[in-house]
Amino acid sequence: MNEKEYQYGMIGLGTMGRNLVLNMNDHGYSVAGFDKSNSQVDLLKKDAGERKIYATSDLNEFVKSLKTPRVIMLLVPAGKIVDEVIQELAPLLSENDLLMDCGNSHFTDTNKRIEQLAKSTIHFMGVGVSGGESGARYGPSIMPGGPKDVYKRVSDMLEAISAKVNNEPCVTWLGPGSAGHYVKMVHNGIEYGLMQLISEAYHLLKEAGGMNDNELHDVFSKWNKGILHSFLIEITADIFAQKDELTNNRLIDMILDSAHQKGTGGWTSEDAMGLQVPIPVIDIAVSMRDLSAYKKERQLAQQKLEGTGKKFNGDKNALVASLEQALYFSMITTYAQGMSLLYFASKEYKFDLKLENIASIWRGGCIIRASILEDIRSAFSRQPDLSNMMVDDTVGQKLMHSQMDVRRAIQIGIEIGIPLPAMMSSLAYYDSYRSGWLPANLIQAQRDYFGAHTYERNDRDGVFHTHWNQENK
Ligand code: 6PG
Repeated sequence: MNEKEYQYGMIGLGTMGRNLVLNMNDHGYSVAGFDKSNSQVDLLKKDAGERKIYATSDLNEFVKSLKTPRVIMLLVPAGKIVDEVIQELAPLLSENDLLMDCGNSHFTDTNKRIEQLAKSTIHFMGVGVSGGESGARYGPSIMPGGPKDVYKRVSDMLEAISAKVNNEPCVTWLGPGSAGHYVKMVHNGIEYGLMQLISEAYHLLKEAGGMNDNELHDVFSKWNKGILHSFLIEITADIFAQKDELTNNRLIDMILDSAHQKGTGGWTSEDAMGLQVPIPVIDIAVSMRDLSAYKKERQLAQQKLEGTGKKFNGDKNALVASLEQALYFSMITTYAQGMSLLYFASKEYKFDLKLENIASIWRGGCIIRASILEDIRSAFSRQPDLSNMMVDDTVGQKLMHSQMDVRRAIQIGIEIGIPLPAMMSSLAYYDSYRSGWLPANLIQAQRDYFGAHTYERNDRDGVFHTHWNQENK
């Protein structure tokens, strides 16, 4: 290694970090990688072969190997490890060096780190990266936030390594401060919603439709060629075809029905609650992951609590056709909730987000990439200040067209006792949002009755309070 030889540095050589290094090198960039673990360093060395990639477990050597001003990407687990790395690294850095945290950091942690590093001469950016292992290797969707002038130093490289849709890179500067990590958090919230919806469709097809894994594979493969075309539907089709290596069964049937989570979906719900922005599909998706973990309790309850005992005796093909539309409807409303959260969060946190750009960079590389994002992008291109994309003419038409199918699918679930909470939430969100009148007047009356919280009237301005029971007597 010669001093100041490498253009970019990568700290954290796990699968994501290592694959990003290789991706960067594919595009002609020389990269130095650092990891405390010798085995991770060895893995990169092995993958790198003769390429211009340097890998070391010596932090000083790593820093020395980089051209100045340095650009260092961090791909380490979110949380206190990021702070530990920054603390160790900062004294070795010099003026104008740039640190990019590319992990799933909570945006409020990113804010703290920005504040902390503002006292130094080092620049800091929070950058969301989505696409898992293969995205990192062959083109992720990248969501950078931070100072715009600093972003320009890395824009060419990020564009080169990102996914492309119609030759457009799936990366663009999103906004100042923690905008990048905020957008990535909401991406993950939407991801939770979509995954829950797909699993509900699976439940209905398996339990009501009585479909086996081959049939499920066929249905999802077919769906992926139509309106539902998306990464998550595609991998779902693959999953049903996967054989188990330990038994003669399909792997899906050998996996415990208890889902884990690192927490980004919950963060999205928490922040939306704080901002008072409704995102019920995402909320319920988080709750359902929680509920799935109560396996033992559910098994006990199954012995005690009866459902309807009814079976589905309708037409299987009609069920598949309805469910396709129902999923489409529910997925659109999930994106709508995520986008609406971004709209209001952007105002609150002064991110000045361009929702069209976000839809655009989500069209490729990321976990929630889907054909529908083209329509979403067009909606925000027509009306950049749209607080809810459901009222866009094109999107609204699609929802109205598919609403009867989601109602039908939910009816089947209710009849035979199959839980479809995310699908139900998506329909309730649609029905509530399109209601010029909601029964919240009663809630106001109740609040005023028991707590003198006052209410507003619909016939005159002002704030009113009534001595409820006395007046009635
Ligand atoms: C992505 C994924 C990625 C990761 C999630 C999993 O965009 O590439 O979202 O970030 O797989 O963090 O999240 P859970 O563990 O919370 O499901």
